[in-house]
Amino acid sequence: MKTHEDANTMTQTPPNKYGFFDDAKREYVITRPDTPLPWLNYLGQDEFFGLCTNTAGGYTFWKDAKLRRLTRYRYNNVPYDLGGRYFYVNDGGEVWNPGWKPVKTKNVAYECRHGLGYTRIVGERDGLEVETLFFVPPGENLEVWKVTVRNKSAQRKTPKLFSYQEFCFFDALNDMTNLQRTYSIGEVEVEGSAIYHKTEFRERRNHYTLFACTRPIAGFDTSRDAFVGIHEGLHEPKVPFAGACTNSIAFGWNPIGAHQVDLDLAPGAEESFAFVLAYVEQGDEPKYDAPFVMNKKVGRAIVEKYSAPGAVDAALAALKKYWDDLLGNFQTECPNEHANRMLNTWNQYQCMATFNMSRSASMYETGIGRGMGFRDSNQDLLGFLHMIPSRGKQRILDIAATQLSDGTCFHQYQPLTKKGNAEIGGDFYDDHLWLVLSTCAYIKETGDVTILQEPCGYADKEYASADAQENLLHHLETSIAYTMKKRGPHGLPLIGHADWNDCLNLNCFSTEPNESFQLAGDVKDSKAESVMIAGLFLYAANEMDGLYSFMGKAADANRMRAHHAEMLAVIERETWDGEWYTRAYDAEGRVVGSKSNEEGKIFIESQGWCVLGGAGANNGRAKQAMESVHKHLFTKNGVVLQQPAYSTYNKDLGEVTSYPPGVKENAGIFSHNNTWINLGWCLLGDGERALEYYLSICPSAKQDQIETYRGEPYVYAQMIAGKDAPCFGEAKNNWLTGTAAWTFVTVSQGLLGVKPDFAGLRIDPCIPKAWPGFTATRRFRGNTYQIDVKNPSGVCKGVKSLRLDGKDIDPQAPIPFVADGKTHQVEAVLGA
Ligand code: BGC
Repeated sequence: MKTHEDANTMTQTPPNKYGFFDDAKREYVITRPDTPLPWLNYLGQDEFFGLCTNTAGGYTFWKDAKLRRLTRYRYNNVPYDLGGRYFYVNDGGEVWNPGWKPVKTKNVAYECRHGLGYTRIVGERDGLEVETLFFVPPGENLEVWKVTVRNKSAQRKTPKLFSYQEFCFFDALNDMTNLQRTYSIGEVEVEGSAIYHKTEFRERRNHYTLFACTRPIAGFDTSRDAFVGIHEGLHEPKVPFAGACTNSIAFGWNPIGAHQVDLDLAPGAEESFAFVLAYVEQGDEPKYDAPFVMNKKVGRAIVEKYSAPGAVDAALAALKKYWDDLLGNFQTECPNEHANRMLNTWNQYQCMATFNMSRSASMYETGIGRGMGFRDSNQDLLGFLHMIPSRGKQRILDIAATQLSDGTCFHQYQPLTKKGNAEIGGDFYDDHLWLVLSTCAYIKETGDVTILQEPCGYADKEYASADAQENLLHHLETSIAYTMKKRGPHGLPLIGHADWNDCLNLNCFSTEPNESFQLAGDVKDSKAESVMIAGLFLYAANEMDGLYSFMGKAADANRMRAHHAEMLAVIERETWDGEWYTRAYDAEGRVVGSKSNEEGKIFIESQGWCVLGGAGANNGRAKQAMESVHKHLFTKNGVVLQQPAYSTYNKDLGEVTSYPPGVKENAGIFSHNNTWINLGWCLLGDGERALEYYLSICPSAKQDQIETYRGEPYVYAQMIAGKDAPCFGEAKNNWLTGTAAWTFVTVSQGLLGVKPDFAGLRIDPCIPKAWPGFTATRRFRGNTYQIDVKNPSGVCKGVKSLRLDGKDIDPQAPIPFVADGKTHQVEAVLGA
């Protein structure tokens, strides 16, 4: 048998046709630009973000992709990804881009490295190499674009380099739709190498975008018409082909930022310089220096800072350190290379993106549609809290403040204003329960119960300090009470517009294509019920029980246990269908997700949540439900959401039946809910299945089917086409999915069993029998635990002995926590 060290060194994922993992550098290397779809990376970690594809496409925003969009992007373009951070090189009349697009000149050598918070794209043609590097330094509201030009030829070269990006007028929706205004308001100023985009600065706005070069320039353009042309495209812009900027000053129409840098390079010579793209709020500074002339003090300081020798490299070093520190909170070496790579690097990285973006801005989310989702962001926290708990705390309080005093929640809110999005409203009756999960996860991670006393008010009430009792704990109690109270004829929780499955709309009855599936129906007197919410409630009640027990509040803990028992009895009485748990009752009281249905007989969500909530634990049903999932829903590309897929639209079930079979909620593989089944296998102690299910949706394990899979090999996809689809195995909607957080939970806490609990860190792995063991390092509440798990007798689960710093401790209990900031050795031996 191989040791896990052997396994790690022996199995190196072979490259696919488009690229490979450089694990040592924590980079994904793309070796040709014509990837099956644009492969995306994110720049930024705090408040300033950029989307950057492998051909430098994408855009930039501050805090909110809808309300503070700084650069333009046209979604669903032809080609899909067009517009971004472009450099045009004119080398002796030949024009090309280091990132291949938009000109797509032949014979440009190419490499793109997506790393943690940065993307490096190198192009080379005719002995001239241009390396571009894009990143957002930690704590800064700006992007750095570093450029290095190398003359690798034997002749002197005098290339001209043109930068290009298009400014957005901050409100992205208005910018692209209200053209009668947009075309008339654009304004810029130019000072030296700095271009200031100041549209609307003269009235309500006190912010601007700065795009500056840190070296002297030979010219600039700020009018798109002048730089690109009216009838030309980005692949044939006038100025780079003509070889000279026109120093245009935009007035209305479409302001851009373009610089011309003339270089003179001897053979072997190279030159490095940088551009900064910054967002500036004027603060207390006077608005103008002179009529119509902006006060540019803050902008000038930024240009000065990044023009200083070494400043750019220091910022890059700070970014690397930032990620090394963060990822150091959890690292493992286990016998599976995909689990190692994803857990140690890419999964945690994706969790940062979902924490920051929720479902707002990706190649599939336009940044103007959805803000922060209530249920989404609560779940995203589960994969983020171990990295920066203080930011997690603030997020929990922000989310809680969008709950209404009756217990329901705004389904989404805007990150800039932190106000609920009234258009999508509320009445999704699972939303509030996820707040219990995120809050308990925060307390398990930090031990900090004071968060419960934080006043956060309700969105429908004027907040006054006298309402301090309406603190976070009050929100949790309101949430539990709401589900207990809002129940239907079978005693199950009402579903409202939808539960986690946004497309199971049991109160919609829409026959009109112009309606929203979720909002068309009135939930007021509906009796439609959700088994999934019931299961989720069991889990939430268990969490509250654990929390109150930890706080020494026995009566409250007992109250939660009673709620759990009551709901459990309802589930076992009303929802067992013989081999699995049903999914729902519709508004007419008809069962959904049962053998008696023609289609949609078995659903994934209720099996997952009922099992995780403790249903079927003592009567064999949990195991049987999971076996039914395996028999009816599992495929080599993951678990499909339900079977058989719906073949026709059924207004009583809503949007779920509107999708083609095998797609999205209609029997697609929704990776997110796969993780709940995975955790179910861990709970039942089946490590083989847990790993098999994990690998079935793991992008790193899809190298040999990349032409089918198509998505980024380094991040989880929301959806993989199910077996009913003609494109079975094709990934869609990568990056912004609850899969990121839940997979981190599944693999780190379920499989590897390194599990924060209220009293301390618990060690309870569930691994394949053949694994000899694994090691992990976990920073937890300021201490560091070096964990060594051994599996001498080849079991899946069960810790036989546990030692802390050489002393035996109770293997079934959390490691007793003493805050000392030290490194501790933990040895766990599995066995009967
Ligand atoms: C939404 C989630 C929802 C899931 C399943 C996603 O697009 O962001 O809130 O739970 O779809 O319907």
